[in-house]
Amino acid sequence: MGKMQECPFQRGKFAHQKVIDENGSLFPMVLLPKDDNEECNTLQSFIKSIQANKEFINDQLKKVGALLFRGFPLKTASDFNEVMEAFGWEEQSYLGAASRTRVLGRVFTANEAPLHQPINFHHEMPLFQDFPTKLAFFCEVASSHGGQTAILLSHKITERMEAKYPELVCKIEKEGLIYKSNLPAEDDPDDFLTGWQTLYKTRDKREAERMAANCGIKLSKVCWEGNNMILRSEPIVSIRKVDEGKRAWFNLLAFRNIEEPPILGGGSMVPREAIESCFQIAEEEAVEVKWEVGDIVVLDNRFVMHARRPSKSPRRILVAFCK
Ligand code: FE2
Repeated sequence: MGKMQECPFQRGKFAHQKVIDENGSLFPMVLLPKDDNEECNTLQSFIKSIQANKEFINDQLKKVGALLFRGFPLKTASDFNEVMEAFGWEEQSYLGAASRTRVLGRVFTANEAPLHQPINFHHEMPLFQDFPTKLAFFCEVASSHGGQTAILLSHKITERMEAKYPELVCKIEKEGLIYKSNLPAEDDPDDFLTGWQTLYKTRDKREAERMAANCGIKLSKVCWEGNNMILRSEPIVSIRKVDEGKRAWFNLLAFRNIEEPPILGGGSMVPREAIESCFQIAEEEAVEVKWEVGDIVVLDNRFVMHARRPSKSPRRILVAFCK
């Protein structure tokens, strides 16, 4: 750091970006092709300019947390896959229960739950020890009604929750949070999570238990209620320190659509009011990215959360996860 870097792209703007520091940095940073530059007119030239500017991209991502590449000639999942390879970040396998399928290469559908359902703010794979540090979304089809991906800086939630509930935040930080999930056997097409048979690729309960034990979340209990698999986690680190003193709100308290909210590591409940307040704060910190076809949004998953707004069909957003 320290040396000035020339921006290889043109900076763009859209309504409601947030100013996040005294230098006037905007969240997300919008990067467009340079007017006078034919370099980014083809997919191959865009890929070359990414390869030539990895340091710039990595530094900005670390600083700002979200980069929106707009106006570049990407159309298909395969184009997106090539661009992901060009960034040079290693793929992180997806281990969670979100309903998504691999399209090709390292590209997945973002979520196949019906589009009228919102998906609230979360980090990707927040309960896993090996969560992706970066993820990228690509817009193949933009919805004409809604369907924005909203993003926020999650350390802002920690700061604001701490100002309001200092003791609770201190406990969350010290004790972590315990999650309980109840996975049905079969997938529910209306749910954004799959059942255990899809998740663990087996119909055998003992095999599912073995898979769960090795999935990368420390579990204190696995049991069955009929064909429903009940998992209870050990306390999980829920406020994560990121560089430059940021403390990310790395948990699912703002994710109001889970049937059972997590409890504190010591066993006490998180007050309803605090959960509601957390949800409100997340909404206030949100920046809406209104998709245009061909957009790529890269997020630093260590301190940026994302959410899906409801929309009408068609809408197709793809995703790739990186270490
Ligand atoms: Fe997600």
